[in-house]
Amino acid sequence: MSAAKRRVTLTPYPDGPILMRGDVDLRTAEGDLIEVNRRTVALCRCGLSSIKPFCDGTHKAAGFRTDDENETESP
Ligand code: FES
Repeated sequence: MSAAKRRVTLTPYPDGPILMRGDVDLRTAEGDLIEVNRRTVALCRCGLSSIKPFCDGTHKAAGFRTDDENETESP
């Protein structure tokens, strides 16, 4: 990782995705690079997104719930 890359942070949101900020190589299970054009992306953790690994908002309609008290409030 070059010095110019930003430190990566992962922030889970209650009843929603994990926001990933920073420069990271995101890959498929086969090791193929997934192109990410933004420095902040929402990663699905409900398992229902049609664009995995990214969140497409389906968690809201599905009523996905988390119970982690240490999560940040939704943006
Ligand atoms: S967390 Fe948003 S669609 Fe899964």
